[in-house]
Amino acid sequence: MPDPVLHRPANPHDSAHLHVSGQARYVDDEPQVPGLLHLAFGLSTQAHARLLAIDLSAVHAAPGVVAVYTAADIPGANDVSPIAHDDRLLADGEVIWHGQPLFLVAATSRDAARKAARLGQVTYDPLPPLVTVEDARAANSQVEPTQRMAQGDAATALAGAANRVSGTFSMGGQDHFYLEGQVSLARPGEDGQVHVLCSTQHPSEVQHLVAHVLGVSSADVTVEVRRMGGAFGGKESQAALFAAAAALVTAKTGRPASFRCDRDDDMVITGKRHDFDVGFDVGFDAQGRIEGLALRLSARCGATLDLSPGINDRAMFHSDNTYFLPNVEIVSERLKTHTVSNTAFRGFGGPQGMLAIERVMDGIAAHLGLDPLAVRMANLYGPGRDVTPYGMTVSDNIAPELIARLRSDSRYNERAKAIAAFNATSPVLKRGIALTPVKFGISFTAIHLNQAGALVHVYADGSIQLNHGGTEMGQGLYIKIAQVVADVFAVPVAMVRITATRTDKVPNTSATAASSGADLNGMAAQDAALKIRERMVAFLARTHGCAADDVAFTPDGVRVGGELLRFADACRKVWMGRVSLSATGFYATPDIHYDRATHKGHPFYYFAYGAAVAEVVVDTLTGEHKVLAVDILHDVGRSLNPAIDLGQIEGAFVQGQGWLTTEELVFDGKGRLLTHSPATYKIPTASDRPKRLSIALWDGANRQPTIHRSKAVGEPPFMLAISVFSALTRAIAATAPDKRALPPLDAPATPEAILRAIAGHRSA
Ligand code: MTE
Ligand code: MOS
Repeated sequence: MPDPVLHRPANPHDSAHLHVSGQARYVDDEPQVPGLLHLAFGLSTQAHARLLAIDLSAVHAAPGVVAVYTAADIPGANDVSPIAHDDRLLADGEVIWHGQPLFLVAATSRDAARKAARLGQVTYDPLPPLVTVEDARAANSQVEPTQRMAQGDAATALAGAANRVSGTFSMGGQDHFYLEGQVSLARPGEDGQVHVLCSTQHPSEVQHLVAHVLGVSSADVTVEVRRMGGAFGGKESQAALFAAAAALVTAKTGRPASFRCDRDDDMVITGKRHDFDVGFDVGFDAQGRIEGLALRLSARCGATLDLSPGINDRAMFHSDNTYFLPNVEIVSERLKTHTVSNTAFRGFGGPQGMLAIERVMDGIAAHLGLDPLAVRMANLYGPGRDVTPYGMTVSDNIAPELIARLRSDSRYNERAKAIAAFNATSPVLKRGIALTPVKFGISFTAIHLNQAGALVHVYADGSIQLNHGGTEMGQGLYIKIAQVVADVFAVPVAMVRITATRTDKVPNTSATAASSGADLNGMAAQDAALKIRERMVAFLARTHGCAADDVAFTPDGVRVGGELLRFADACRKVWMGRVSLSATGFYATPDIHYDRATHKGHPFYYFAYGAAVAEVVVDTLTGEHKVLAVDILHDVGRSLNPAIDLGQIEGAFVQGQGWLTTEELVFDGKGRLLTHSPATYKIPTASDRPKRLSIALWDGANRQPTIHRSKAVGEPPFMLAISVFSALTRAIAATAPDKRALPPLDAPATPEAILRAIAGHRSA
């Protein structure tokens, strides 16, 4: 049967017309009701200290202030953490990072709240802070014990290898820089209930935590999110703090309360991507094929656990990328520092693990004087070399074919030759080119999270209302799922009214994360729609005296025997016949399991693949660079919506480019974040986008029966940007082409880092 979803021209984002005309409603666009209170936190000015006293008299006396709360005012649990009950809503007894919320101000305007929040007199007993990865390693300070993942015998293989290279390098963190900052609006309901509009990827967890903070049950709290103005992982666990603060004020005062966090405060208060320090020791043969690898991944987790276990596990899971590591030991240190607790960010640790192994590939190539692409090809998974360090067989490997096609389509060989010729005669400008692949595992590695629910209503006029547990953050999830439902009834997608995600419609949902939003919610929504369709078929067949097989939903209407009914007329008949046109749907990903104690199992339902070729030019006098051209070939299975998927790939690539080149988080020795605004923290701008950016979709269905055989797309293309880092490494290497050494480049490759790497390489 032809697949109407895939044969329809790509549907634009359902809110595109609202986005561009300024009519899309975000939380802060809600009409301001009389009595609305505005909130701000008083923040710690120490990274690590005992809290001796907080004098709030000046705060109370400030104009417009209605209420001020400290930890002692919280009726339930002082906890907004996702796992470990270690994130306080308001500090209690001790402060563990600079910028930690100490008290909460509610005032009649946002300005009044923010001004008053500066007036708290706090007495600290300062303690020495651990700020960096090195500080924490030296003090053996960890949020959870070091984890090991191993296959074969790395030590023996390393000892016996013909060639051996070791090294260290570091990669920075990243601020999410969502355009819409953290925001929540709480409204009182009757009898102690509360309704929270929250910009969050995880409404169910926010509901749960708000209930705990207030000391009420989950049934008394409803969390709603229509859309976010970007999230990128930063509104998975981090949104709960602001929602709980707003709900606390509403519960205490009986008034609606809005917490729209200021940008600088947002950057200081909320967690970021984990920065890593990496050590490697690799043994290989003359072709660069890895025989043994010892890899150390040391992550700055910050002051609390947050989602660090899963993030660091995912870093380990992606330390193979597309490569077979017969003998490997991956040691993952989860370090506790007195800095803001780091959190989910697009790729969830995957980018860090993948950058580590790509750096190893570049190190091997430099040592042997080979083209890094030849080394990458020599190490790819293939027949008889297909088991990952976590014991899963890679059964859907398309990396070799995909890389070969991109290599020829992008004319990699010819361009590499031309670049070598250019560099030979260009003393100041040096070019570099690199092709790097991506293999990203799809599923939450916490197996229980791989479930989703949906609620579909068909009205008697033939219109459809769709609700599911996934959230919309700009990634186009809602339109994809609307297409899936429209397809079930063979109606135009415009017949499907997409509604806000709400915990009172679909309960106990997982975060929209791990790129699995469409996979999980698409299946759940299809399940609900199919239930309704089956009921309609049974009723129509019975009342028209035909077989169920003679009822068909077509773009022209519903065929019942020889008759053609308008969809709306069919719905009306079914309603008149007293058959329910509403259903819930559910999905749980099959065939996945994982034993965290041994780090072995089958944690991913499938892999998403891709590859990118980046060409860069570096000014070796200033350290500046430009990305000249990028060619991407990316695997989204059978695309549910090619326009959306191309947008995801482009956005993810440029965001990855920012992580690896311009975005630098600087903490000083006292643990203060110095880069907390766009004046000092540089996300890529339009002029940083590659001069030429060509993106093609790999043409092939998912081998697993996912929704319409599509593949997840949200995170995997982020890691295509590693090609830029690798190309920069080669351009820097060209400053001293005879040296068989890997230029000591750390990420982000800012002009300063590039100049340091050039100096280091020349003197190597
Ligand atoms: N795209 C946009 N425009 N905005 C976002 O915040 N978040 C990314 C990705 N793409 C994000 C985005 C992240 S971190 C994830 S996990 C996925 O979208 C989540 O959505 P999905 O599961 O529907 O792909
Ligand atoms: Mo994405 S980091 O899984 O929210």
